[in-house]
Amino acid sequence: MKKLLILIIGFMFSSLLSAQVYKNPSIPVKDRVEDLLKRMTLDEKIGQMNQFLGLEYLKTNRANLDKGDAKNKNENVFYPHTPISQIEAWTKQGIIGSYLMVFTAEEANYLQRLAMQSRLGIPLLFGIDAIHGNAMCDNMTTYPSNINAGCSFDPELTYKIARETAEEMVTVGMRWAFNPNVEIARDARWGRVGETFGEDPYLVSVMGEQIVRGLQRNLNQPTDVLACIKHFVAGSQPLNGKNVSPADISERTLREVFFPPFKAGTDAGAATLMVAHNEVNGIPCHTNQWLMQDVLRGEWKWAGFIVSDWMDLEHVWEVHKTASSMKEAFCQAINAGLDMHMQGIHWQDMVKELVLEGRISEERINQSVRRILTTKFQLGLFEHPYTDEKLRGKVCQSQQHMQTALEAARNSIVLLKNEGNLLPLSEQKYKKVLVTGVNANSQNILGDWSNWMGDKTSTVLKGLEEVANHTDFIFVDQGTNPRFMKYENVAKAVNAAKDCDLNLVIAGEYMPRSDWNNRTDGENLDRSDLNLVGLQEELIEKLYATGKPTVVVLINGRPLSTEWISEHIPALIEAFAPGIQGGRAIAEILYGKVNPSAKLAITIPRNVGQTVKVYNEKPSASFHPFTLTDDSPLYPFGYGLSYTKFKYSNMHLSTSETSRTGKIEASIDISNTGSREGTEVVQLYIRDCYSNVSRPVKELKDFRRIFLKPGESQTVSFVIPAEKLAYYNEKMEWTVESGEFEIMIGSSSEDRDLLKKSIIVK
Ligand code: BGC
Repeated sequence: MKKLLILIIGFMFSSLLSAQVYKNPSIPVKDRVEDLLKRMTLDEKIGQMNQFLGLEYLKTNRANLDKGDAKNKNENVFYPHTPISQIEAWTKQGIIGSYLMVFTAEEANYLQRLAMQSRLGIPLLFGIDAIHGNAMCDNMTTYPSNINAGCSFDPELTYKIARETAEEMVTVGMRWAFNPNVEIARDARWGRVGETFGEDPYLVSVMGEQIVRGLQRNLNQPTDVLACIKHFVAGSQPLNGKNVSPADISERTLREVFFPPFKAGTDAGAATLMVAHNEVNGIPCHTNQWLMQDVLRGEWKWAGFIVSDWMDLEHVWEVHKTASSMKEAFCQAINAGLDMHMQGIHWQDMVKELVLEGRISEERINQSVRRILTTKFQLGLFEHPYTDEKLRGKVCQSQQHMQTALEAARNSIVLLKNEGNLLPLSEQKYKKVLVTGVNANSQNILGDWSNWMGDKTSTVLKGLEEVANHTDFIFVDQGTNPRFMKYENVAKAVNAAKDCDLNLVIAGEYMPRSDWNNRTDGENLDRSDLNLVGLQEELIEKLYATGKPTVVVLINGRPLSTEWISEHIPALIEAFAPGIQGGRAIAEILYGKVNPSAKLAITIPRNVGQTVKVYNEKPSASFHPFTLTDDSPLYPFGYGLSYTKFKYSNMHLSTSETSRTGKIEASIDISNTGSREGTEVVQLYIRDCYSNVSRPVKELKDFRRIFLKPGESQTVSFVIPAEKLAYYNEKMEWTVESGEFEIMIGSSSEDRDLLKKSIIVK
């Protein structure tokens, strides 16, 4: 009897202990994962690999579907025939692992409560497109777009933005940002340029890494969130610049240009990666074993999890047509290495069938589930699945975050032209100023991937009124969308200009997601020309013809070819999408309260025919110039003016020769020879003078932001390990070749802005 009692107690104790293994935070994550995995049914495992759309988002979108939509194209997107109660039931059953498009803490908590009722109580992971701030939710800080961050050449501030974004994300229960977008933007026709850090592999790598580190830190604190490097790969140089269209790109170019930021992101520990919509050289990225297995897992030894992009597994079948059914597409993708499906129905049943049919092994499923569960444990979701609903008001749009957004905007606005030092504007000289253009008083300044933030958004007009309060601003409304500009409003502006001392035109593109079908720039808004849309150029030309000094400010994601403006208008600013404090920052720059310091993270082409014109082109790319038109870009990469002058002198190299494993130190003196303080972005480029395989005419390898008072000088030093000179030789081996290399330091990628010295690598 006694023995039996001991046995029973022993059994109860051990089952209690074993029941607690995966729930016990003091046990290593790896063991918790294995313990949980052992307890999971096949259904539960497959469910962890699936994501669904937030219920409120679904309801809104379903309500907007017309009959055709409901029946056809949205059948797999918003699944109108699946009742909301069914999705709730699946969540309770533990066969949904993640949600996206959830925008409030209340909804996140509601869904989490359902998940916590499931057999094993595995928490949900909420993902969101927090691209520049958590701006898809209301009342958040919309920081400047990623292209602005690129132009700031300011890694520390980029880190800070990511950190603050994470802090705002967790107030609504979001622990996974679908950012950074580390694509290399080389084609301005492509609508997503604004969400990238520009065209240069090095700059994009540096910025992407800062975002990963800023979002994640060590993934062990309550405000740490998962980063997602995306989209792998080459979707930023698609055929005709059109999103989703094929990328036919050599392995060399992939490795030299498109892979480096992803490699940097995986090295920085990015927990997740999103695959690109497009095919690469005939194989959709979503079923591309070479990319997902050989490169990511094999070569780079990366252990995070891979998520599909929106409906892209379905598109393998419906769009690329490299699978004859949806089920076949799921099969190909999982076997090629994909871990999570964004998003929706059919996954559960079809994947289960595939496993039961032996076409996908359960071990392959286990691999993915392990990766996903690991992140959930790391984030502490099992211990803290819910969000404090009161946190939001305390954290979001706080004074500190708004100040960071202002700093970031100031650092990211590029002064392109300033003839006769028209800028900064003098309030004494220009007492009455005409303000017009579609972006003069528009929240479009927030850019793509942002809701409009109401009163909190500093539009340009608002900013001007705050900053230059002795000036009489005459605002002539042109609406906010260039597609719908009216001749009568153009005429009104021209008429008003007669009484004004200066014209200020805030032009550009239209990007709000809330007006999806009418936008001109942003995701899926690819263009066959790069001109200003609508009557904008006409407005500017007519205002110029009034003879009053005219200043143009551009707000857009992609670069615009404004050749006429560059030739005629004396002052031009490219502000891209500077975010919630953008209007104020633009006004501060116009009125000289802030000295502009940003440099272009992307070349501005003269016209659409210059696509793809990048600064790091191969030597033969400009052998024959274009006929009839100027061959040079309108503005080159790395270019941007200041209100002061910087002089570069005394370039010095520590040695004129080094070994293939050695290093060189390059230094240069920079002096502020102008009359006001300012920040300069000092850029270091290299060129491999002669090589077995052709190399770019120059490549950015380092940069530094330095602040100098008038008359001040500073010596800036760069250490260049020979590794930075390496490239893929003819056998695709990563190698440092001996021979002559040119080191260039200066204020832009243009030859005339660079001092140069050669070294020999032996
Ligand atoms: C975009 C992704 C995004 C996803 C979810 C897709 O259309 O390509 O970048 O993360 O939607 O919103």
